[in-house]
Amino acid sequence: MQPKQNIVHLPVYQPGKPVEDVKRELGLSEVIKLASNENPYGSSKQAKAAIVAEIDNNNIYPDGASVELTAALAAKLGVNTDQIIFGTGSSEIILMLARAFLVPGDETIMADETFPQYKHNAEIENARIIEVPLKEGKHDLPAMLAAINDKTKIVWICNPNNPTGTIVTLDELTAFLDQVPAHVLVVLDEAYGEYISDPSFPDGVKLLERYANLVVLRTFSKIYGLAALRIGYGVGNASVIRYANQVREPFNTSRIAQAAAKASLADDEFISYCREQNANGLSYLAEQFDRLGLSYFPAYGNFIMVDVKRSSPEVFDSLLRKGIISRSRWTHYPNHIRITVGTQEQNEKFISALEQVLQEETVQR
Ligand SMILES: Cc1ncc(COP(=O)(O)O)c(C=O)c1O
Repeated sequence: MQPKQNIVHLPVYQPGKPVEDVKRELGLSEVIKLASNENPYGSSKQAKAAIVAEIDNNNIYPDGASVELTAALAAKLGVNTDQIIFGTGSSEIILMLARAFLVPGDETIMADETFPQYKHNAEIENARIIEVPLKEGKHDLPAMLAAINDKTKIVWICNPNNPTGTIVTLDELTAFLDQVPAHVLVVLDEAYGEYISDPSFPDGVKLLERYANLVVLRTFSKIYGLAALRIGYGVGNASVIRYANQVREPFNTSRIAQAAAKASLADDEFISYCREQNANGLSYLAEQFDRLGLSYFPAYGNFIMVDVKRSSPEVFDSLLRKGIISRSRWTHYPNHIRITVGTQEQNEKFISALEQVLQEETVQR
């Protein structure tokens, strides 16, 4: 048997370590996972009620076109229903766009480093990957623009960027989009966009009328707290969305996910609550890092990347032994860990564990 040669080297996606594994392996009774940018406040009560109400329909296939959910979202975003596509998480929209647009030899441009699924899916299509280094943790849009040529098909912009948490501002983004040739699709991944109230942060959906080659990705996995149900969406020009729909699996998103997502859209109170708590958590973590003399990238999403000034896999292991799961092993940031903003109690436990780890390591040196 011979698989496609271009997938042989691909890694299998490594998720954040599950809480149950860590409890078992280390014999801990309490473990806090701050590794996968999940919502520590769960999900909307209305979403839970919608899930329960949908349970008797498990024997019926879902609506492949997510008609009701699409109508609710289109009304909320002020776009037409043919401008929206749903996927099993926004990860599946990334896969569909790569599948629909990239053929071997096409070029695709992304930051280095950023969310790994752009590269992963482009590699499956055997496209040529052009990675443009981040500048102080931020997308270098002028350099990304300069990398565009006749072979470029897709440019990926992660805003805010995962893992660094930095943003591209509205002015930076429009200056870039004004110069991108019409044959290039720009995918703007706003997985954490709902967390941000900074006025300089662009709302990609508002730019769709101006830029026909723009697609915005969002997800119900983060602020909506529905990561387990796997549902996210793309919004863009109807012709681009149609191409993505042509490669979509027939019944990709489940009935339960669609019902929960629709109910979540009606619960603005939950979203405002999570946004506010997250902002408080980010301020707390930033203050504590300042107190500990640690530098960090300006953070806008529900995570923050901090320079722990020593090998981060070691800090990761030491934190793990204290029951905190963080994320390390970044290609260009060997001394940084990325930490998800938890509840205030979780954040305090993390800071206390980090402080102990840094002190213990200083004593050992
Ligand atoms: C930047 C970014 N985009 C997309 C995703 C995909 O999320 P999901 O597939 O759960 O919607 C993630 C998940 O962590 C992410 O960080």
